[in-house]
Amino acid sequence: MKTIQQAISVSFRYPVIFTHGVFDPENTALVKTLTRGRHTTRARALVVVDDGVAAAWPALCDDIARYFSMHDASLELVRAPLVVPGGEQAKNEWNTVRELMTLAAAEHMDRHSYFVAVGGGSMLDMVGFAAALIHRGLRFVRLPTTVLAQNDAGVGVKNGMNAVGAKNFVGTFAPPFAVLNDGDFLRTLPQREWVGGVAEAFKVAIIKDAHFFDYLCKKAAALRDRDQRVMERVVHKTAALHLEHIATSGDPFEFGSARPLDFGHWAAHRLELLSGFTLGHGPAVAIGIALDSTYAMLKRLITPAEHQSIIDGLATCGLPVWSPLLERPGADGQPDVLVGLEQFREHLGGRLCVTLPRSIGDKVEVHRIDLPLMVEAIGRLRPAPAEGEK
Ligand SMILES: NC(=O)c1ccc[n+]([C@@H]2O[C@H](COP(=O)([O-])OP(=O)(O)OC[C@H]3O[C@@H](n4cnc5c(N)ncnc54)[C@H](O)[C@@H]3O)[C@@H](O)[C@H]2O)c1
Ligand SMILES: [Zn+2]
Repeated sequence: MKTIQQAISVSFRYPVIFTHGVFDPENTALVKTLTRGRHTTRARALVVVDDGVAAAWPALCDDIARYFSMHDASLELVRAPLVVPGGEQAKNEWNTVRELMTLAAAEHMDRHSYFVAVGGGSMLDMVGFAAALIHRGLRFVRLPTTVLAQNDAGVGVKNGMNAVGAKNFVGTFAPPFAVLNDGDFLRTLPQREWVGGVAEAFKVAIIKDAHFFDYLCKKAAALRDRDQRVMERVVHKTAALHLEHIATSGDPFEFGSARPLDFGHWAAHRLELLSGFTLGHGPAVAIGIALDSTYAMLKRLITPAEHQSIIDGLATCGLPVWSPLLERPGADGQPDVLVGLEQFREHLGGRLCVTLPRSIGDKVEVHRIDLPLMVEAIGRLRPAPAEGEK
């Protein structure tokens, strides 16, 4: 027997740029991004826009076309910006992925061409998935437009689609060419999306940065009341912590079973599914954090005071910390949400690995969940009935 041991290492480098007025012709961030390392040919791009963003910014598609024509010495827009469905539904349907493939072929886009996607985390996941498949990977530039996409979903190295009844059942690891976070987009977010992304800030603060957690608790009311300056600081700090984790954890493509950035997510993903996706990812994550923090308190990993500060912080922002879906029974009579644990294990591979807070700013990975105790945690979270309901 002969064996050749093959070893390959590939390093990825991409900028995450924070800016305003990204399609103002005077703003050179995008043109510099698309022409990075190019000397001769123009940068060819297909721009794809989330329909929710297009509705909130009626002049956006014209602004994009104008930006490209003002920079036409170095940029080429292959066709008018394509508006596609946004929201979670974008990840459930394959029509748009096929449409993007057809367009890429019709426009003769090659591996040095760009898909530029402007939208929320869902459509970025879907367009990123299509970009990763075409020619085994076109260049992909994300312009995230929600808090959650700017501080979490849109800055990392993954994409995904929902299939066979599970979230993100298919997808690839494919680092973007660049990310441009334009804070102005956040101004038109519905309140649910505005505050939803703050759940990811709490997530990363609770397990990594006690100082940031204190800041979030102190600014919770300002965040709820749409303080743009505070939100942009929170987005920047959360994105930085997220990116630092991907760069330094030693496992950017998640070959192991530990995934600390998914703290609170095993329950969140199941709740999203159980709600028929009427519960957004951010609110679901807030409930997942509340649940796993309650479990951590019962396990004496955090104190009751720390637990209360987590619940109060989330609630003051206007995030939910409870859903009746937590108690919906599954086929075996146990809360259906618990099915999320096994789905989570299967998605990560290997043995179960759930991240829990160990005091604020630190974490521990556990490989076994005490199910009766988790059921007790659900009971502890249930709000007391109002006076008239007793
Ligand atoms: N790839 C990853 O690593 C990763 C990480 C975390 C989350 N995600 C995914 O991200 C998705 C959630 O993304 P999301 O929270 O950004 O929500 P979303 O993309 O589902 O968007 C929510 C709604 O907001 C609208 N919208 C977007 N930007 C807007 C704006 N500026 N003004 C007005 N409306 C706007 C959209 O059209 C949509 O209707 C989930 O599917 C989740 O699984 C992916
Ligand atoms: Zn998340």
